Amino acid sequence: MTSFLPFTRPDIGEDAIAAVAEVLRSGWLTTGPKCREFEAALSTYVAGRPVRVAVSATATLELGLRLAGIGPGDEVITCPLSWVATANVILAVGATPVFVDADARTRNIDLERIEAAITPRTRLLLPVDLAGLPADRTRLYELAGRHGLRVLEDAAQSMGACWRGQRLGSFGDLVSFSFHANKNMTSGEGGCLVMNDEEEARLFEKLRLQGVTRFADGSMDVDVLGGKANLTDIAAAIGLSQLRRLDAFNARRRELARLYFAHFDRSLGFDLPPEDFEHGNWHMFQPLLPLSRMKLDRGGFIEAMKREGIGVGVHYPAMHLFTLYRRRGLREGDFPVAEDIGRRTVTLPLFPAMRDDDVLRVCEAVTRVVRPVLR
Ligand SMILES: Cc1ncc(COP(=O)(O)O)c(C=O)c1O
Repeated sequence: MTSFLPFTRPDIGEDAIAAVAEVLRSGWLTTGPKCREFEAALSTYVAGRPVRVAVSATATLELGLRLAGIGPGDEVITCPLSWVATANVILAVGATPVFVDADARTRNIDLERIEAAITPRTRLLLPVDLAGLPADRTRLYELAGRHGLRVLEDAAQSMGACWRGQRLGSFGDLVSFSFHANKNMTSGEGGCLVMNDEEEARLFEKLRLQGVTRFADGSMDVDVLGGKANLTDIAAAIGLSQLRRLDAFNARRRELARLYFAHFDRSLGFDLPPEDFEHGNWHMFQPLLPLSRMKLDRGGFIEAMKREGIGVGVHYPAMHLFTLYRRRGLREGDFPVAEDIGRRTVTLPLFPAMRDDDVLRVCEAVTRVVRPVLR
């Protein structure tokens, strides 16, 4: 019998397991030498810019907003088609998320609609790279520059992706990456923020740990309100190993995505993702179900694929339709493109340890499940 194929699975090498054991034996488990080594390696990866790690990308996004001075009365423009963390952090700092619909082709924020959403209160753009296929950085920074706005890139899913030959993080304003277990590289949980200068990095360090500044003579002071968002050296040891393998992981993801495009049965009527092999890191492969032509809903599709031995995920429903956001006055019909994608999207298996014939197996199963239920 063939084994169950999940939609993703982390690839943790023996070197990472040994490095974790070494940290555990060292007696230093919390933020320490491994975190500093991880930060230095991440900084090298993004062309030498300052990088600091934290317990999650939710934390790095929230701290990024605090670094940019975003708070009550400010508006932050973002896209409703993302993991809900993207907008939750805006609420967490007391600012107002202003949603702009997704673009039907790229599935990222619709750049044509941003300008109409800018008001005198707008302070920052928070674009998301859905599935690791980057939003257009050239146009985003041109817009931000023209309106004097800061940018916090939610690049949670796009570590190792590029924009016009430049790695994300190696240019731009504030850039946040996630090392959650399902991401292209992981530290179990974790994230990092790329910043503009050492002064911002020092403030980030304070904000992630109670606002504390330590002095050489052993004394300390607290001059800002910080929280508790530091990463452990255990996690950093895993992250260091994963970072060394990231480019190979992403190359394999690209090959697998190409195989999906080659073998997916296009006559079924799914909308496939944009074939962005120049920029993307192929964090996920997400076709949109042809629901209007199907006598089966998404839940039924997921169940049927499970019976075929294949795991299917959903990333993500449009977040403005969650109760928390509806209570703020948002409703169905506000962002039709994001809503349509959010209703029809499915995440098929894509992770570096997959074999070529796993892709064929998924494509054949999709055809077997969908062909008989087409109207
Ligand atoms: C687009 C996006 N933003 C933010 C996050 C938050 O990342 P984390 O889980 O590391 O807090 C995620 C991760 O799931 C994400 O996919």
